[in-house]
Amino acid sequence: MKKILFATSEAVPFIKTGGLADVAGTLPKYFDKDKYDVRVMLPKYMCMKQEWKDKMQYVTHFYLELAWRSQYVGILQMEYNGITFYFIDNEYYFAGWAPYGNIHEDIEKFAFFSRAVLSALPLIDFRPDIIHCHDWQTGLIPVYLDNFRYGGEFYRGIKTIMTIHNLKFQGVWDRKTVQDITGLPDYYFAPDKLEAYKDANYLKGGIVYADKVTTVSNTYAQEIKTPFYGERLDGLMNARSNCLSGIVNGIDYDEFDPETDKMIAKNYSVETFRKEKKKNKLALQEELGLEVDDKVMMIGIVSRLTDQKGFDLIAYVMDEICQDAVQIVVLGTGEERYENMFRHFAWKYQGKVSANIYYSEEMSHKVYASCDAFLMPSLFEPCGLSQLMSLRYGTVPIVRETGGLKDTVEPYNEYEKTGTGFSFSNYNAHEMMGIIRYAESVYYDKKRDWNKIVERGMQKDFSWKNSAKQYEALYDEM
Ligand code: ADP
Ligand code: GLC
Repeated sequence: MKKILFATSEAVPFIKTGGLADVAGTLPKYFDKDKYDVRVMLPKYMCMKQEWKDKMQYVTHFYLELAWRSQYVGILQMEYNGITFYFIDNEYYFAGWAPYGNIHEDIEKFAFFSRAVLSALPLIDFRPDIIHCHDWQTGLIPVYLDNFRYGGEFYRGIKTIMTIHNLKFQGVWDRKTVQDITGLPDYYFAPDKLEAYKDANYLKGGIVYADKVTTVSNTYAQEIKTPFYGERLDGLMNARSNCLSGIVNGIDYDEFDPETDKMIAKNYSVETFRKEKKKNKLALQEELGLEVDDKVMMIGIVSRLTDQKGFDLIAYVMDEICQDAVQIVVLGTGEERYENMFRHFAWKYQGKVSANIYYSEEMSHKVYASCDAFLMPSLFEPCGLSQLMSLRYGTVPIVRETGGLKDTVEPYNEYEKTGTGFSFSNYNAHEMMGIIRYAESVYYDKKRDWNKIVERGMQKDFSWKNSAKQYEALYDEM
C-alpha cells in the first residue's frame, strides 16, 4: 500500500477560492483504494463554516520552533467521503475572513504551515511515501524536507511532488525576511535554490527540490517553458523539463451531474437535453429578471474576475456583443473594475445582461445548466474546470486556445461535423467577437448541428478516472 499525503492550502468542501480546492478535495476519492492511501492536510481556517469545525476531532498538539518564535500546532482530523483530512490549527496564523490576505502575512503563514505539516507527521501515525504539494503555499515543504533529512531517520526516503496549478503566484518576498521567518540556513538562499531575481521564491524552492514536478495540462506544461507563459521561471522550467509532466484535471462527476443535480430546476441527460435543458433557462431568466424567452441564446460566465480570465477582451467588445440577440449571465467576484463593468452593463442592458457579483455554489450550477454557451477567453489557463463543468451540462464552451482549454475543448468543424466547442487563438477582442458571432450563427441557423455539438460535449469523459490513473503511474514510478 502506497501512502500519499496531499498538502494544500484549500480543499472542497471545507474552503475554496478557486479550482485548486476542487482538485485537492475530490481527486483523492478516485485512487484505487487497495493500492493507495491518499490523505489530505490543510490549515484549519477561522473562516471555515462552523458546521465543518464541529465535525473535526482533536488528535494532538505540540509547539514548533519557527525561527525565534515558539508556535502552537494543533492537529485535527475528519473523515469525509471515505478520505481522511487533517487540519493544522493555529489561531494566530489562520484567523481572518479569507484564507489569503496580505502577501507578507501569507509568506509567514505558509512557512508555518509547511513546517507544521512535516513536524506533524511523526505524531499522526501516517508516514507518507510521497508528499504531494500544491502551489506556492506548500513550496517550502520539499525545501524543509531536504533540510530535515539530516536531522532524522523518519524523514529519509520521503519523496515529493510539486504540482503547479498556477505559475503566476509564486510566493515572493525579500530574502532577509524569509530567512528570518523560515529559519532556513544561508545555504538555501542561492540562485540555484530558493532565490530568484534576488528575492526568496517559495514555488521555485518547491520546483528545485521536488522529485517530480507536474502541472495541470499538457499544453500548460509546454507553455511555461516559454517567456510569455513562464512568469520569469521559464529557464527553470526548461532545466527541470525531464521531471516535468502535465496531467489534465477532471471534475467530480457525482457532484456535477445534470441527471441528479438537486440545485437545478430541471434534470436532464444526453438523451433528454433537447427538450428539458431549456426549462432551466426559463427558470433562471425568471429568477434573474431577464426577458423570459427559451429561444434566445444565453451565454454564461462563472469566474474569478481577473485579468487571467480575459476580461479585458470582454470589456472591449461588451457593447458590441449586447447588440446581438443574446443574453449574458455573469457570476463572479474579483477586481473592482470588472465587477463594476458588469454592473454597468446590467444597468444599461436591462433584461439582457445579469451581473451576479457574489460567490454561490448553487447559482454556479444553475448557470452551467441553463446557458447555451459558456465564455472563457483566458489569457492563460493552466487547466480550467469551468469549461469541463459546462461540457458536462451541455453548455457549449467558447474559449481561447491556451493551456487546458486547448486540451479539453475541441473546436467545431462544420465540414467534418466534429468538435465540442468554439475556440480562437490570438488574444484579440475582435477575434473573440468573430468566434462568438460564428457560434451565434450555428445556434440560430443550424440548430441540429448545434445540438450535435452539445451531445458530443456531454458524451466526453472528464471525470477524475483518467487523471487519477496517470497520477498513480507517476507515484509508482517514484
Ligand atoms: P481558477 O481556479 O483559475 O479560478 P477553474 O476554472 O479551475 O479556475 O476553477 C474555478 C472554480 O471556481 C470552478 O469550480 C467555478 O465553478 C468556481 N467559481 C468561480 N467563481 C465562482 C462564483 N462566483 N460562485 C461559485 N463558483 C465559482
Ligand atoms: C488554477 C488555475 C486553473 C486550474 C486550477 C486547478 O487556479 O488557474 O486553470 O484549473 O488551478 O488546477
